[in-house]
Amino acid sequence: MVPVRIAVAGAGLIGRRHIEEIDAGSSAELASIVDPGPGAPEVAGKFGVPLYRSLAEMFETDRPDGVVLATPNRLHVDGGLESVAARVPVLVEKPIGHTVEGARRLVEAAEAAGVPLLTGHHRNYSPIMSRAREVVRSGVLGAIVAVVGTALFYKPDDYFDVGDGWRRRPGGGPILLNLIHEINNLQSLVGDVVRVQATTSSATRGFEVEDTAAMILTFASGALGTFLLSDTAASPRSWEQTSLENTTYAAYPDEDCYHLAGTRGSLSVPTMRLRVYEGERSWWEPFETSMLEVERSDPLANQIAHFADVIRGEVDPICSGRDGLASLLVLDAVVESARTGRPVELA
Ligand SMILES: NC(=O)c1ccc[n+]([C@@H]2O[C@H](COP(=O)([O-])OP(=O)(O)OC[C@H]3O[C@@H](n4cnc5c(N)ncnc54)[C@H](O)[C@@H]3O)[C@@H](O)[C@H]2O)c1
Repeated sequence: MVPVRIAVAGAGLIGRRHIEEIDAGSSAELASIVDPGPGAPEVAGKFGVPLYRSLAEMFETDRPDGVVLATPNRLHVDGGLESVAARVPVLVEKPIGHTVEGARRLVEAAEAAGVPLLTGHHRNYSPIMSRAREVVRSGVLGAIVAVVGTALFYKPDDYFDVGDGWRRRPGGGPILLNLIHEINNLQSLVGDVVRVQATTSSATRGFEVEDTAAMILTFASGALGTFLLSDTAASPRSWEQTSLENTTYAAYPDEDCYHLAGTRGSLSVPTMRLRVYEGERSWWEPFETSMLEVERSDPLANQIAHFADVIRGEVDPICSGRDGLASLLVLDAVVESARTGRPVELA
């Protein structure tokens, strides 16, 4: 297999992780780095690849097989559009755009041009999430009735002291920074969200921005979900602390962050405890209980391997630009519902 050539635009925190994964894997090789920042020459030197100051400069001299866009949020739409115009498949870090309008423009441009566009919700490539999706699709749970999700964690107090204090103000809270991955996970398990009702609180930290949010989600299938989010709750019930996929977080493998309940059984994630009725369905009857095995692998590495397969035309994106847009629309609805106190219907 000839490795595909991938350029990484934005060699910051997450861009460097993508660069390492491209370098470490066999499906792709690093074509170049695009970053005008002061830290970029050192990274390009370390990996021995050309450095460009902009995508336009790169496309003048080279046409890689794919681009990973790990630039700040406000540059995602423009960078994505430049790659689409150059007819180069592009994986855009989340969120797919900093506005719904911009994200929609990018998704429509990519679809019209037939250029693969992926959103970097890397948990889609988590073996835990893949296994959970398989279980749901196998029908062993029956029709999904309800899902309970939590992202309850405690951000250290000095986390809020950076810069001009932007993390204490609207936009710097867990809804805009953390929730989109959770929404995307639930959508990948239960499908489209058609209605959102949300309430926020800032009572605990007393900042302008929310520290806690509660949501009710209605899925297109009719399934209902609740989601509790807090960056101020001393609880391990978050993906980060339960999935063990990022070893920088404290690990609680005995806790769950999602529970999916169907008409025949239920699955807790990520412990992968499956309980199903083999015979009569009744709360008087015992469930058959099993713990499903998951073979561990790194979602970011898997995401790059998948992007390489998409570039080769072997598979369709698991998390497309349109999937990223769907998650952004739900996020927007959460913000709107929390602001107005009313439910928001999604078309
Ligand atoms: N998937 C995830 O879990 C995850 C995690 C962290 C960040 N992100 C997303 O990745 C993106 C980057 O976040 P980060 O934390 O790495 O930020 P960062 O600030 O560490 O890095 C951004 C980089 O982009 C560079 N840059 C700025 N303007 C540029 C331009 N015009 N062209 C090319 N490069 C440019 C900067 O010099 C910097 O090196 C954000 O959209 C963020 O939401 C996703």
